[in-house]
Amino acid sequence: MNHPAPVVRNVGKRGIKRHVNPLKHEGEDGLFTQTWFPICLSSEVRPGEVLGQTFLDGKVVIFRGENGKINVMSAYCPHVGADLSLGKVKGNNIQCLFHSWEYDETGQCVRTAIGGQVPPNACLFSYPTVERYGIVWVFNGEEPLWDVPGFEKDDSELAFHVYRHKPPYKCDPWLFCCNTLDFQHLIVVHGFQVPDGSVDKLHNEVEWQPFGFDYRIAAQHQGGVSLNWQLGIRGTSIYRQQGVYDDFWFGYIAAFSLPQPGMHEAFQIFAVEKGDGTPEAEALVQRRLKIADDLEVRTIEEDRSLLDTMRPAPGNLVHADKSLGKFYQYLRDYPRAHPGKDFIT
Ligand code: FES
Ligand SMILES: [Fe+2]
Repeated sequence: MNHPAPVVRNVGKRGIKRHVNPLKHEGEDGLFTQTWFPICLSSEVRPGEVLGQTFLDGKVVIFRGENGKINVMSAYCPHVGADLSLGKVKGNNIQCLFHSWEYDETGQCVRTAIGGQVPPNACLFSYPTVERYGIVWVFNGEEPLWDVPGFEKDDSELAFHVYRHKPPYKCDPWLFCCNTLDFQHLIVVHGFQVPDGSVDKLHNEVEWQPFGFDYRIAAQHQGGVSLNWQLGIRGTSIYRQQGVYDDFWFGYIAAFSLPQPGMHEAFQIFAVEKGDGTPEAEALVQRRLKIADDLEVRTIEEDRSLLDTMRPAPGNLVHADKSLGKFYQYLRDYPRAHPGKDFIT
């Protein structure tokens, strides 16, 4: 892999040079990281419905055929360019409003309105798409490189609360992901209290994978509440946390969309253990989901002003930043592509 050499960005007073080891922004060189991005809630597109959304600085249509299958494809009709979000679902296909050409679930044009021959290149770009936790996920690539993650407990044992958190953050998703290994900020911004010397041990706890990492942290949180969590990142767009907070287990995924460079929404997934179906157990489930939601919204809002305004430029890292520095390198090496570019823009 090519690693960019540190650059001298500035020479300040007294001749002090600012060394910066650059990171790639989303959209830089016309490329985006190859990761799963949430694009909408499943409930926003019912069978027979079409939704237009901005994605990777372009436009896609999300439509659900009568068979219930969700599809995410480039929005512009390859005939003369009409926006297919104005069109309609016909069976399991999408039909353009302008001249009624029809595209199947692979994105191939299968019919012209007046029966003329279908041009062989008349096709849409079809993104790999899955639905999980009531969210429609899209992979930036022709084939996914990894799967959307789940929790350590089976989904059948869990009750969920899922929604889009607004307003959007004014930065790339990967910048939010950096905070997971920014141990200094866990203490300064979020009020984690850890025993002396334990930050050093955290560096050894991080288990790296080709497309992410996990580590465990035990700490006292605000108000002296104890937590024992596994924290991790998948790709450049998914934060996952699971473990015990106070006296109960909950799982949390913050998945970051990418409508355009320098902007994302956090899709929030909360999971707690299901009760036995009694009204008391259901009330406990709802109470725990609310505690988890309040905690995580407060936490990500503590980050907002910093993330919305900073200019990421790794320069002077110290020992406490060892794992963060490794994540910066992970980001520099991360696969980037834009196979749908000619179709969605
Ligand atoms: S522009 Fe879509 S069918 Fe003509
Ligand atoms: Fe944070």
